[in-house]
Amino acid sequence: MPFAHITGWGMAVPEKILTNGDLEKILDTNDKWIVERTGIRERHIAREGQTTSSLAVEAAWKALSVAKIKPTEIDLIICATSTPEYLFPATACLIQDRIGATKAGAFDLSAACTGFIYALNMAAQAIRSGSLKVVLVLGAETLSRFVDWTDRNTCILFGDGAGALLLQASDVPGGVISTVMHSDGSGADLLVVPAGGSKNPATEATIRAGLHYIQMDGREVFRFATRVMAQATREVLTSAGILIEDVKWIIPHQANLRIIEAAARGLKLPLEKFVINLDRYGNTSTASIPIAICEAIKDGRLQKGDKFVLVGFGAGLTWGATVAQWTGVLETEHVILPTYFRVFARTRSFLRRLWLRIEGIIWGRKNT
Ligand code: ACO
Repeated sequence: MPFAHITGWGMAVPEKILTNGDLEKILDTNDKWIVERTGIRERHIAREGQTTSSLAVEAAWKALSVAKIKPTEIDLIICATSTPEYLFPATACLIQDRIGATKAGAFDLSAACTGFIYALNMAAQAIRSGSLKVVLVLGAETLSRFVDWTDRNTCILFGDGAGALLLQASDVPGGVISTVMHSDGSGADLLVVPAGGSKNPATEATIRAGLHYIQMDGREVFRFATRVMAQATREVLTSAGILIEDVKWIIPHQANLRIIEAAARGLKLPLEKFVINLDRYGNTSTASIPIAICEAIKDGRLQKGDKFVLVGFGAGLTWGATVAQWTGVLETEHVILPTYFRVFARTRSFLRRLWLRIEGIIWGRKNT
C-alpha cells in the first residue's frame, strides 16, 4: 500500500492588513478586549479583485514549485472552502483552469473550518488506495466578504488567506497516517450564513436583514470547541497507535487563543507544543491549518521525521484530527519550470476563453 506524503506546501495572504486599532475606528471595540478574549491582533483582508481562487492559485504555484511537480501531473484538486466564489461551479475548477492542471478532477469540500482536515483525509485515502498519485489539497477563503462589518461579535475574528499541500504517493513510510472526522448537525444554527442557499434564496428582504452574513452564537461555539479539540487529538492518536509523547507539534485550527489553551490543558501539554499564528491572521477557516504548517516548515520548527497532529472544528458542527509524519520533499526526477508553466497556463486559459467567445459570435450570427 502506498503512503501519502506531503511533498509541497505554499501559502498566500492578501497584502492589506487590518489591525485591531483599525477596527477601533469603525466599531465599538478595542485592542485590549480583542487580544484578551481572542489573541488576535491583526488579519489580512482581500483587496478588490482578489478572490478565493486567486489566493488559492498563488498558494498552489508555491506548493508545486516546492514539490517540483508539473500541474499536468496532478490527478485531483480538492479545495476546502467556506467562501466559494459561486454556489457552482466549484472554486477547485477555477483553480484547475488557472494552473493548467489539464488531467485533474476538481471539487470543493464544505465542512467549514474542519474542511482542510476532511480534504486531506480524502486525498490521502485516494492515494493509499492506489487510485491516485498526485493530489493538490487547498484551504482557501475570503471570509471578509461574508462578515457584517458592523457586527463586533464576528467581524473581529476572521481573515482571508489560502494554503496548499501537495500529496504524493510513495513507498517510503510516513506522510498522512490517520484521521478522525465527526459531525453534529443539531448544532447547525450555531454558526450559519442563513440566506443565499436554496432554503432562503437571496432576496431584497434577506439582504436588508443581513442574512447573507455569518451569524454565530459565540459562547456555544466556544463551549463546543473547547470540548472537542483535546478529545479528537486523543482519538486520532489512539487510532494510529501513537503516544502523545511521540508527537512533536500540535497544529490546531486558529480560531481563538483561549480555545487552544483549553486544548493544551485538556491534553496536559505545554502551550509551546502548539503552532500558533492567529495573532497575525485571525481565523482564516479552512486556510488556517495549512498556513500554520507552511510557517512551521519555513521557520524550521517542523523537521524531517517529526510526527504532528492537525486538529480543528467548525460550523456544521464538524470537527476532526489528523496525525502525520513529515518527511520533506521526495527525491523525484521531475524538473519544474514554474514561470514557463504559469505563462503557458495563462495563455491557454486566455485562448480558450477567446475561442469560446468567437464560437458564440459565429453561433449567434448563424441563428439570427
Ligand atoms: N469588542 C468589545 N466588546 C465585545 C466585542 C468586541 N469585539 N464582542 C462582544 N463584546 C461584548 C459583548 O457584547 C458582551 O457584552 P455584555 O456582557 O455587555 O453583553 C461581552 O463582550 C462578552 O461577550 P461574550 O460573547 O460572552 O464574549 P466571549 O468571551 O464569549 O468572547 C468570542 C466572544 C470571542 C466570539 C468567543 O465566544 C469565541 O471565540 N467563540 C468561538 C467562535 C469561533 O471560534 N468561531 C469560529 C468557528 S470556526 C468556523 O467554522 C468558521
